[in-house]
Amino acid sequence: MTMNKATLFTPVQFGAMQLKHRVVMAPLTRSRSIQPDSIPGDLMAEYYAQRASEGGFIIGEATNISVTSRGWLGAPGLYSDQQVEGWKKVVSGIHAKGGHMFAQLWHTGRSSHIDLTGGEMPVSASVDPAYWQNPSHLVSASSGWVQPSPHRALAIAEISLIVEDYRRAAERAMDAGFEGVELHAANGYLMDQFLQDGSNKRNDEYGGSIENRSRFLLEVVRAMTSVWGSDRVGVRVGPSGTWNGMSDSNPQALFQYVAEQLNQIGLAYLHIIEPRVKGNVVVLEHQGAIAAEQMRTIFQGKIIAAGGFEPDTAEAILESGTADAVAFGRHFISNPDLPRRLKEGLPLTAYDRNTFYTFDAHGYTDYPFYHENALA
Ligand SMILES: Cc1cc2nc3c(=O)[nH]c(=O)nc-3n(C[C@H](O)[C@H](O)[C@H](O)COP(=O)(O)O)c2cc1C
Repeated sequence: MTMNKATLFTPVQFGAMQLKHRVVMAPLTRSRSIQPDSIPGDLMAEYYAQRASEGGFIIGEATNISVTSRGWLGAPGLYSDQQVEGWKKVVSGIHAKGGHMFAQLWHTGRSSHIDLTGGEMPVSASVDPAYWQNPSHLVSASSGWVQPSPHRALAIAEISLIVEDYRRAAERAMDAGFEGVELHAANGYLMDQFLQDGSNKRNDEYGGSIENRSRFLLEVVRAMTSVWGSDRVGVRVGPSGTWNGMSDSNPQALFQYVAEQLNQIGLAYLHIIEPRVKGNVVVLEHQGAIAAEQMRTIFQGKIIAAGGFEPDTAEAILESGTADAVAFGRHFISNPDLPRRLKEGLPLTAYDRNTFYTFDAHGYTDYPFYHENALA
């Protein structure tokens, strides 16, 4: 059935960037950077160029701001000159097809292992042994999926050093030719560990009140806007995410405050993961939902909604005015030409989760483009 995707294919202005359509590629960790130095290579450049479209927006996979921020084998970085050179190839391939790209900046915090951090103990807002002892929390390290290493709490003086790492990574993103940067503040990584009071038990100016727990995030956002200007910075939050050990006693109030503060900064967009997805797993049970629908009433800028969208539901959330664009994750993995397929109502290829985090071309650059004579 050919569906009318009228709103998905109307243009929209995101800060300084003019998009021709609203089918965004979500940030997707795919573990294919060259190790041990986390450098984007030709395989990554090919994968992203396949997914670029005229006037389309791609948010790059989560990208580490320092060696000690790493927590996923194969994730790329933006802290060395070689990484910048690698990213130049990726970004120029997207630009050659008329697409746009932001880098997503990432510190994994306690969701890490000393195998990945250069031997340094992972850091977080507070120490929570239950986190690294929980067998459901796993980290992709060189020896396979392992329990996270024990972590320690950041000292106040160290927090400003990490803010500086984000600022420098934002500068390197500019050197690499990206058009802006997104802060990864979702899915239980360092920013989220400070935001939510299930993981933040500090009693200094970075813990306790909502204002204090949001301080680190806002400092990082200001560091990023100091490099790029606020119209080229986005923030991704997962207000309903419980994946990776997240919980908060009052997420409504917390994320309302964050959105109000971000209003004052004025971003290119706020990127919200909808409640039905935990990390990368679709969940069925109803959670205390904080979705784009609630954030729309608070946040005054553009909103990207993500998480479990299908062609119909994507069109519907845009038509309702709740979001300005929809980010697709897993469908973009298996459909390099996803915007075209949505526009023309073409069938989608199913994704294979067994190759989400493997290390070669299979399940990465070998998903087919649609062609008319393909057998059904
Ligand atoms: C393989 C995989 C890798 C992901 N990596 C990231 C990431 O690097 N950064 C991020 O913010 N979210 C990441 N996510 C979450 C996705 O961006 C997205 O929110 C999620 O897949 C739900 O959207 P979907 O239903 O369209 O797939 C990842 C999800 C998957 C499946």
